[in-house]
Formats: sequence, structure tokens, C-alpha cells
Amino acid sequence: MADTSPRNSLTVTDNRTGLSYDIPIEQGAIRTLDLRQIKVSPEDFGLLGYDPGYFNTASCKSSITFLDGDKGILRYRGYPIEQLAEKSTFLETAYLLIKGVLPDKERLAVWTYNIRHNTLTHANMIKFMDGFRYDAHPMGILVGTIGALSTFYADAKDINNEESRKLQVRRLIGKIPTLAAMSYRHSMGYPYVLPDDDLSYTGNFLSMMFKMTEMHYKPNLILEHALDVLFILHADHEQNCSTSALRAVGSSGVDPYSAVAAGCAALYGPLHGGANEAVIHMLKKIGSIENIPAFIKSVKEGEGRLMGFGHRVYKNYDPRAKIIKKIAFQVFEETGRSPLLDMALELERIALEDDFFVSRKLYPNVDFYSGLIYQAMGFPLDMFPVLFAIGRVPGWLAQWTEHVQDPEQKIARPRQIYLGEEQRDYTPIEQRPKNRIDEKKFDICRL
Ligand code: ACO
Repeated sequence: MADTSPRNSLTVTDNRTGLSYDIPIEQGAIRTLDLRQIKVSPEDFGLLGYDPGYFNTASCKSSITFLDGDKGILRYRGYPIEQLAEKSTFLETAYLLIKGVLPDKERLAVWTYNIRHNTLTHANMIKFMDGFRYDAHPMGILVGTIGALSTFYADAKDINNEESRKLQVRRLIGKIPTLAAMSYRHSMGYPYVLPDDDLSYTGNFLSMMFKMTEMHYKPNLILEHALDVLFILHADHEQNCSTSALRAVGSSGVDPYSAVAAGCAALYGPLHGGANEAVIHMLKKIGSIENIPAFIKSVKEGEGRLMGFGHRVYKNYDPRAKIIKKIAFQVFEETGRSPLLDMALELERIALEDDFFVSRKLYPNVDFYSGLIYQAMGFPLDMFPVLFAIGRVPGWLAQWTEHVQDPEQKIARPRQIYLGEEQRDYTPIEQRPKNRIDEKKFDICRL
């Protein structure tokens, strides 16, 4: 009797040759390397997977973050984001992401001590900062100075040494708020503020940002808590653009400062870390609640997008956006309500009732309300991606640590489909046909 029990494999028939192949399925995936056996001739390289933008390619196995975009679920190490946002702190969540478990009291105290005692940067860092133009974008400064940390800590190259890895993790989480605040103060021309170990991680960051001549900066507890929750919400999001950049760079065996700088550079891009800023610009451009229907009409007619709406993965309300919306109300109660918030609420209300957005599963994403909160707290627009980066550092480091320890990982080296010229012979310059540049209009800058 034929065996009809289901098999964990995929049978593929190559219609070019008529040959069939049995490809194993593990954890809902096939290994694309298994496609290489599919050839039309022995010289054939074998079949490749082609996936620009990695829409359907898993680059790693991970135990850090679970995300179900259709159901609107986000969990760090199994814990729902809603519970962490309500009950945890950013430093505790950082511990969870990196170590995989929630700490007991003693471990949390040691972890907090270790992070707090790594907040100072080498004094030479001030010279670095001073080298940037007065109006340099703080995110550009952050990318540069995180990369520069690798030159201060030569021991970080020892990536296969667990103790060294742990030390770099503590240093990076400790120093990021310091570098972030320094980058802001440099761009404002304000003197730098030393870390204050009596404050919480987030309170200290606010102090380094906003302290002026007072002896001790006392953060507003509601704003400090709100920012701490925002950091938790941004702490990891599995294999997004910046995390993939960090893993790819880290796969070369480079130190974690260089890998994190790469992640940070990816986050700098407007398609990734910059959308919350775009929301503020959009709201300012709309101008008032009366103009919203006309704006929605223009979006539906294809004249631009409703920024802060839609997501590549979430086809449901982004769970982070729900939490952020609640925080926005708490913050505005403290800072005074912004007319932009009322516009955002009205935009959301209209969009969620409109078939254009409903049928395309376009819901508010993490960026829809976060920019409004940052603005109300007094952060300038160009600090928004920097705030995202502070939150994301523990996630990047958890992903980097996992990557370095994963025996299946190799240096990231994708394939390409070559569409260029076949082999041709080099011709001396005198024998080449006159080329197409109009010499009268010859402009060296355009070459
Ligand atoms: N406003 C209006 N229409 C939209 C929007 C939007 N914000 N987002 C998607 N659509 C429409 C598209 O026009 C398209 O319609 P069509 O099928 O009639 O052509 C359909 O919805 C699907 O859109 P895609 O661009 O194919 O969706 P994709 O998954 O590639 O894009 C993205 C996701 C980039 C986030 C998109 O929704 C967008 O541009 N949103 C606004 C920018 C934004 O808020 N980005 C932040 C994302 S969260 C983060 O990165 C942290």
C-alpha cells in the first residue's frame, strides 16, 4: 500500500528538464541552497532564489522577537509588548532582550549599576564632537561617534570572548544616551552635560539633553515615564532594515560598535527612522481640522501618502501605536494639548472609516503619534531618529549577540543575477570610438 502520510518536503518539477526534486521543509521554510541542485546541465550554476527587499527570505533563526503583522502581535522573548510597556522599565526590557529572561531583583540592580557606570565617554570624544559642523544632523553625529567608539575599545574585536561581548554591550547601552545628548547639544551650541548617576537611565538622558544652569536637573516624572515606555516600544522589531544591516556587517566579524553604527546608519533613512518627523510636517501642512477632508481626498487621488499609516508587516493596528496613543494623552495633559494632536485624532477617525484605507489594511503605525509626543517634550524634529536609535540599541545588541553565537551563520554574501556585458577585450584608448560626450558642453563635474 502506498504511503500517504504527509511528508515535510516540497516536490518541485523542473519543466525545463522534466526532473523532480524533493526539498525538505523545516520550520515552514526551505533552504534556498537546496535549489542549487536544480540544473539544466552539469555546468549550470543551479537555481537561485531572487528576492529583492527580502520579502520572503528568512536570513536567520531567532529567539528574540515574535511578530504577527496580521494579528497585530509583538512579543519580546515571549512577553507581550503591552505587558512590558505597562509593567517593565527600559533597562529591565534591555536585560530581557539580551539575556532572554527577566532579571530577579539582585540581577536587575547589578545590571542597572553596570549600565549607569558606563555612561561617561572618553574625554577625546568631545574633540570628535567639536569636529562636526555647527549645524550637523544629530543622527549623522551619532553614526560617526558610535563607529568611533571602536577606536577607543580595541578589546571589542575579541567578539568570540563572552566576557568581552558582555562588556561592550554594557558600554554601548550606557554610552548611547550620552552620545545622543552630546550630538544635540553640539548642534545647539550648548555645553555638554555630564551624566548624573542619581537619575534613572531615561531621567539621566533628559538631564544631559535639557539641563541648563540648575545644580540638579529634575525630570518631569510623567514625561520621563512616557519616554521610557517609548524606548521599550522601539527596543526591537526582529529583522527590519537596520537590524539586517547590523547583522550583515556583524557577520564579517567586525566589533559591535562598527556593527551598531551600520544599524544606526540604516535607521537614519527616511523610510525607516524618519517617518515620525514626516507626520509632523504633514500635520503642519494640513494646517487645520477643516482641511482634513480635502487632504484625505488628495491622498486617495494618489497625491501623496497619509504618513504614519500603513506598514510592510502590520496589516492590523500596530500594537505599539495603540500604546503610544494612550501615552500621548498623558503627555499632553502635562504639557498642554497641541492642535496637531486634535488633527491627528481627526485624521485617524476619518481614515479608519474610509474604505480606501480599510480595504488596504492601512492602520496607524508606531510613527503616527510618537513624533507628537517627542515634540511636546521639547525634542527638535531632527532628534526623532536619534531617540529611535537609543531605544533600538538593546535590540540590535541582542540580535548581534545571537548572530555571533549562531553556528549556522556565515559572512553575509548574497548572490546576484548578472545582466551586464559578456566578456569583451580591453582596447587601448586611441583605438576606442569617439564617445558620446558633447565636448562643447564638457563639464568635468558631471562625469
Ligand atoms: N497612505 C496612502 N496610501 C497608502 C499608504 C499610506 N500611508 N500606505 C500604503 N498605501 C497604499 C498604496 O498606495 C497601495 O495602494 P494600491 O494597492 O492602490 O497601489 C497599497 O496601500 C499598498 O501599499 P504599498 O506601498 O505596496 O505597501 P508597503 O508594504 O510596500 O509599504 C509603507 C509600507 C512603506 C510603510 C507604506 O504604508 C507607507 O509609505 N506609509 C507611510 C510612511 C510611514 O508611515 N512609514 C513608517 C512605517 S513604520 C516604521 O518604519 C518604523
